[in-house]
Amino acid sequence: MKVLQGKNALVTGASRGIGREIALRLANAGAYVILNCTTRGVEKAEAVLAEIRAQGGDGEVKAFSVSSSAEVDAAVDALLKSRGNIHVLVNNAGIAKDSLFMRMKDEEWDDTINTNLKGAALCARALTRSMMKAREGSIINLSSVVGQMGNAGQAAYSASKAGLFGLTMSLAKELASRNIRVNAVAPGFIDTEMTVDLPATAKEEMLKSIPMGRMGSGKEVAEAVLWLASPASSYVTGQTLAINGGMYM
Ligand SMILES: NC(=O)c1ccc[n+]([C@@H]2O[C@H](COP(=O)([O-])OP(=O)(O)OC[C@H]3O[C@@H](n4cnc5c(N)ncnc54)[C@H](OP(=O)(O)O)[C@@H]3O)[C@@H](O)[C@H]2O)c1
Repeated sequence: MKVLQGKNALVTGASRGIGREIALRLANAGAYVILNCTTRGVEKAEAVLAEIRAQGGDGEVKAFSVSSSAEVDAAVDALLKSRGNIHVLVNNAGIAKDSLFMRMKDEEWDDTINTNLKGAALCARALTRSMMKAREGSIINLSSVVGQMGNAGQAAYSASKAGLFGLTMSLAKELASRNIRVNAVAPGFIDTEMTVDLPATAKEEMLKSIPMGRMGSGKEVAEAVLWLASPASSYVTGQTLAINGGMYM
């Protein structure tokens, strides 16, 4: 039997990049995957769903903004009605708006924190009651190496990702007695649309700081997320798993 057979998994930001790979991997492991994105990503998310179905899996696309509690609550209510429990939540949706701190605009700070940090908290909160009732759940938060070591030009992004560690550990302590595990993954430099526009010189510098000498792939992150989502990691909670080619240790 596949490790996630019979389980429902909500993956936020699943229209592209790392979220797309996570959705494909969890579906391949047997989960019914709910692919979230904003309304602008629906076409791409539908294409991911078509790939999942072509592999023999199943799921659905659910567009909502993770930064809106009204949208999150309405979407999760509808999902719980149609699917019963959601067993796995992957808080992957994220944005990066890089700027020198001195020039950072209020809205850049707000958008980044509201999507990356508040968004994860809102999705987790919306699902907590049903997971507690079911006494089962795995929540995985996509943080970043930048949340562990900081990065010039990414103060808001780095703060949002560091905040996810506090959220992860607090929820892990609060929910452990109900058999809900909460963990984070901290990817390093991963080849997606988020990193594609980095100037060549910045990329070269970054690669020099990675002992393995290369970028990671979304597939490599997805394998770690699958492990944390599955019973294979049943005694692991409150932890951060780094997937960074040795960039930070
Ligand atoms: N790439 C890296 O090197 C790297 C490294 C460490 C950590 N991470 C983290 O890994 C996660 C995925 O990164 P990525 O590189 O795959 O990013 P990406 O290619 O830019 O994709 C971002 C995803 O998030 C969704 N999204 C953005 N705002 C949203 C919102 N308000 N509500 C719902 N969905 C929203 C996007 O949906 P739309 O298509 O609708 O816009 C898209 O599906 C992020 O949390 C990122 O911070 C990435």
